[in-house]
Amino acid sequence: MSVLNPPRLRLGVNIDHVATIRNARGGEHPDPARAAQIVARAGGDGITVHLREDRRHIRDEDLHRVADATGLPINLEMAATDEMLEIALRHRPHAACIVPERREERTTEGGLDAAGQHNRLAPIVARLSDAGIRVSLFIAPEPRQIEAAMKLGAPVVEFHTGEYAHATGEQVAYEMRRIVDMAALAAKNGIEPHAGHGLTYENVQPIAAIPQLAELNIGHYLIGEAIFIGLEASVKKMRALMDEVR
Ligand code: PXP
Repeated sequence: MSVLNPPRLRLGVNIDHVATIRNARGGEHPDPARAAQIVARAGGDGITVHLREDRRHIRDEDLHRVADATGLPINLEMAATDEMLEIALRHRPHAACIVPERREERTTEGGLDAAGQHNRLAPIVARLSDAGIRVSLFIAPEPRQIEAAMKLGAPVVEFHTGEYAHATGEQVAYEMRRIVDMAALAAKNGIEPHAGHGLTYENVQPIAAIPQLAELNIGHYLIGEAIFIGLEASVKKMRALMDEVR
């Protein structure tokens, strides 16, 4: 891939928190499937959903409803468990992003230790890949995690941008450098790099400008903004900010 003419950066919109709001009252509103349709209209390239072990937001029945509501590719974020593997194989999303998951965490707080968990991950990556699902590993931007992804044969890695998003002062440039360097390293080794977590209108552009990145997955901020300006406008504005730097 020429870095002089980077391809359009895809935007995957994580709609988990539409389900969080719905679940607060236990009914059907607001409906994540309707949110997926609006994302498609607003120029989103994919829908990302995280079916957590505790089903705190997206539920099993949402998976096919969201997929049926829009022609957009579905990216299923999933823990490396037998239960999630079975669900992924049944639903056959376009992509599956393997994430670490701890019941007590508020969100996915760190990257997957792909290096330390090779034996656990290898059969899961193989079975998803054999089913034609594009596997991604949600990792910290570190060389050893990219090497682990290569050993596992994962075609995609998604860099956890949480440390960048939460950095202040000189730390911002340091965290940025790590992502820039690791995006180049991944691409050089034939792995497609994505990024996500904690991205906002204020911090997205330096990340979006990294030429090797093919996709960003953004959720919490977009759903939060949607409360003020509507989901379509919220997604469109992110799309425009990303396009400005490409
Ligand atoms: N990518 C992955 C793998 C995630 O787990 C999450 C959070 O669910 C996101 C992207 C989106 O992060 P945020 O909601 O902070 O935008």
